[in-house]
Amino acid sequence: MINKIVILGSGNLAFHLCKALSMAGIEISQIFSRNLETASQLADMAGCTFTNEINKIDTSADTFLFAMTDEANLKIIKQLKPYPDKIMLHTAGSLSMNVFEGKTENYGVFYPFQTFSKNAKLDFSEVPLCLEASNKQTLNKLIKLSEKLRCKYYIINEAQRKVIHISGVFACNFMNHCISLGENILEENKIDKNILKALLKQSFEKLITNGAFASQTGPAVRQDYETMDKQIQFLKTNKTLLEIYKLMSQSIEETHFRDEKKIKKP
Ligand SMILES: NC(=O)c1ccc[n+]([C@@H]2O[C@H](COP(=O)([O-])OP(=O)(O)OC[C@H]3O[C@@H](n4cnc5c(N)ncnc54)[C@H](OP(=O)(O)O)[C@@H]3O)[C@@H](O)[C@H]2O)c1
Repeated sequence: MINKIVILGSGNLAFHLCKALSMAGIEISQIFSRNLETASQLADMAGCTFTNEINKIDTSADTFLFAMTDEANLKIIKQLKPYPDKIMLHTAGSLSMNVFEGKTENYGVFYPFQTFSKNAKLDFSEVPLCLEASNKQTLNKLIKLSEKLRCKYYIINEAQRKVIHISGVFACNFMNHCISLGENILEENKIDKNILKALLKQSFEKLITNGAFASQTGPAVRQDYETMDKQIQFLKTNKTLLEIYKLMSQSIEETHFRDEKKIKKP
């Protein structure tokens, strides 16, 4: 069993992991982070100590859970001496589990396929977990941990995890940015951005019920080139927005009229 964990990192995911693991009765023994302010906040929540010194890492823990940026994970793993009796895990979508090679034989990935922000509430038991491990014993421990968190889990290899990650980048990260761009357009034109809320609510309800393909509306799927030309004129002063508009419209047309020859590239 995984009973005692050091969490490395004190960002968005570390915050939610710290909360969910503590609530599930799993001991967090220490927060390791370069950021002592956020480390102390997480440590308060878990009732544990914190440090920013790698030589003070709590070696009484059975598991080191790396939840920093990929670059920081790699930097700290490099500095860490081998701990053959420990389990080492990371939480990243596109980082090989082999980054732990030479540090322990028991390592793996604990990748939660969800979007985490400190200021957004979340029921962790609804997070799908992608698990991968270097050996059977470690995988079994990861499964037990997922069960303790009451999460649905998937045994996923590195190639599959990369696919899942990139799908999430399109479905969540790019979608979020598109909404942010929509808000900016309103704000720049002195219109209350809250006018978007009802549209977003209905859009999410629709796409969860009917799927994204069936829910597509707008000028590109209607092939309303007159409107698209007007909108292109409107965006002419912002090169990036113009390119995004054209590429998105082209992608919508290619997706919906794949077998037809009548796609006009705006
Ligand atoms: N957030 C999500 O939605 C999500 C979902 C699934 C998986 N993940 C994975 O979780 C991991 C963490 O993501 P996150 O969203 O929690 O990131 P985050 O909020 O940006 O937090 C990153 C953490 O890494 C630390 N850090 C950054 N650069 C560092 C460096 N050079 N040296 C030492 N520490 C450094 C940060 O410290 P400072 O506070 O000092 O910057 C912070 O504690 C990533 O592998 C990500 O792929 C995230």
